[in-house]
Amino acid sequence: MLIIFKELTKQFEQSLLDSLEKNDKKGEFEILRKNLITQSSKEEFGDYQCNVCLSLSKIYKKNPRDISNDFINLLNKNISISKLCKSLEIAGPGFINIKLKDEVLINEIKSNIQCNRAGIPLIRKDLDSGLSNKVIVDFSSPNIAKEMHVGHLRSTIIGDSISRIFELRGYEVLRLNHVGDWGTQFGMLITQLKDLYSNDLEEIGKIKISDLVEFYKESKKRFDNESEFQKRSREEVVKLQSGDIKSINAWKLLCDQSRKEFDEIYKNLKIKIEERGESFYNPFLKSVIDDLNLEKILVEDQGAKCVFLDGMTNKEGKPLPLIIQKKDGGFNYATTDLAAIRYRFNKPPNGDDASRIIYVTDHGQANHFAGVFQVAKKAKWIPENCQVDHVPFGLVQGIDGKKLKTREGETIRLKDLLNEAVRRAKEDLLKRLEDEDRYETEEFIANTSRIIGLGAVKYADLSQNRITNYQFSFDKMLSLNGNTAPYLLYTLVRILGIKRKNNFVYDSKDFQYVNYEHKSEWKLIRKLLKFDEVIISIEKDLMPNRLCNYLFELCQTFNRFYDQVPILKEEQNIKISRLNLCDLTAKTLKLSLELLGIETLERM
Ligand code: ARG
Repeated sequence: MLIIFKELTKQFEQSLLDSLEKNDKKGEFEILRKNLITQSSKEEFGDYQCNVCLSLSKIYKKNPRDISNDFINLLNKNISISKLCKSLEIAGPGFINIKLKDEVLINEIKSNIQCNRAGIPLIRKDLDSGLSNKVIVDFSSPNIAKEMHVGHLRSTIIGDSISRIFELRGYEVLRLNHVGDWGTQFGMLITQLKDLYSNDLEEIGKIKISDLVEFYKESKKRFDNESEFQKRSREEVVKLQSGDIKSINAWKLLCDQSRKEFDEIYKNLKIKIEERGESFYNPFLKSVIDDLNLEKILVEDQGAKCVFLDGMTNKEGKPLPLIIQKKDGGFNYATTDLAAIRYRFNKPPNGDDASRIIYVTDHGQANHFAGVFQVAKKAKWIPENCQVDHVPFGLVQGIDGKKLKTREGETIRLKDLLNEAVRRAKEDLLKRLEDEDRYETEEFIANTSRIIGLGAVKYADLSQNRITNYQFSFDKMLSLNGNTAPYLLYTLVRILGIKRKNNFVYDSKDFQYVNYEHKSEWKLIRKLLKFDEVIISIEKDLMPNRLCNYLFELCQTFNRFYDQVPILKEEQNIKISRLNLCDLTAKTLKLSLELLGIETLERM
């Protein structure tokens, strides 16, 4: 309903302007036009509402209901408004409830039924603005030789969904995996590697580090306890940075090993992402310092080079610095992110020419990104009309509210967590099959439980307001009732079954007769028409949980419709009208689940 909403807003603005001009108050327009029309607070009130008369009453010093009356008269004279609206009514102290004409809604629903994007508009490629339509989503980004943990899983799931939404809208999306593949920890890892496998180093690939995380722990233990090992590790960092071939090979080996483990998870979850680790920006780090120096932004503090951040203080109320070059001359996480931000906005060949960068990490990095963004702005590395967003999310907790752990108290490995979800989904499915006395092939069982299990994990994550912590519960996420993936998948299966059951062939473009009378039909129509507004709001605010909430409501609305009105038993014309609504619901569900990275099923 986005187009209708925009048109309505435009016309209301015109009438508001007319009213203000008549009363000699034109100067108030800019403030009053903000949120002039909003969604109705309750469905039964109408499609939209307008509360401006309450503000006008203070300006005109008149009773708000009288003003509403006058304003409605003015609106009724506007031909475009009367074409769209069935009624404009005063409510309460002076609100205006807006109801759209049936035919306006029906025309819109007809066009969405015929649109394979369920009514989601493509962005207009505005060539004149000179701005690219490239969006970079920086997500997942685990660290080499370390565990990919549930925080990375959240980032992966949320980042993938955000990328999909931008892709659907027609943006060019660059999905970047900013893996932690550089830093002083490599000194100790390579030293350990050389100690254990000195002869094999030249032949990368021969060596199998079966458990990289254990390997990391072992090296760290030696680093902390053996001074000779520590010394060699420090020397190794210098060697690596100067490009020593043996050290580089060892580093590559470690990266390859980790990559294999990460890729397994990505493959399982069907995640597309391009690896461009921290090391990629090494050649650009020095110039970050040089340019900040030139701009006179850098300050030396206790030997380190840093920028003191405006409006950010530590616990003692002292200004917070962003350290960009350490006392020993080394660069750090922030230096790399500054080099990255500059590279990503720069034009090729040394840049990506992005117009928006979205970073998906846990909330713990909020200060880091606020600092990096502030410094990048000061250095004028974020071009005009370009945008950076940090998309923070909360922690994943066990049902006890504590850190997610295995029963034995170990941290859970992602691989095991995903396998467990699929295993439980299979258990549920087998029970259902037995109850229903149904026989299905091994292949069906494996595929269905994989889709339900992985879908449930993804959906549980996405349906939370990402800013709060969320409690991970297999039982909840796999339940067929409630705001869960299985519930949505089941509703879709139900719809697909309606047509299958009847073996009824019809052409969805068959609109000779469209007749909607039943209350639950109208509820479904209105809900379906909200889809585009939801997507556009996510594009702006990056909250995929809004899509989940919408889908949950859509499914509930559909299921009520299905319980209350007959479909297949109706005469031909009504049957077609209703089947068209079923079709659009199915299409919206399928497309949305795709946007959430969840595969769908024909049967389950
Ligand atoms: N590797 C980091 C971590 O595991 C996340 C990197 C996020 N991206 C970035 N550009 N800093 O916490």
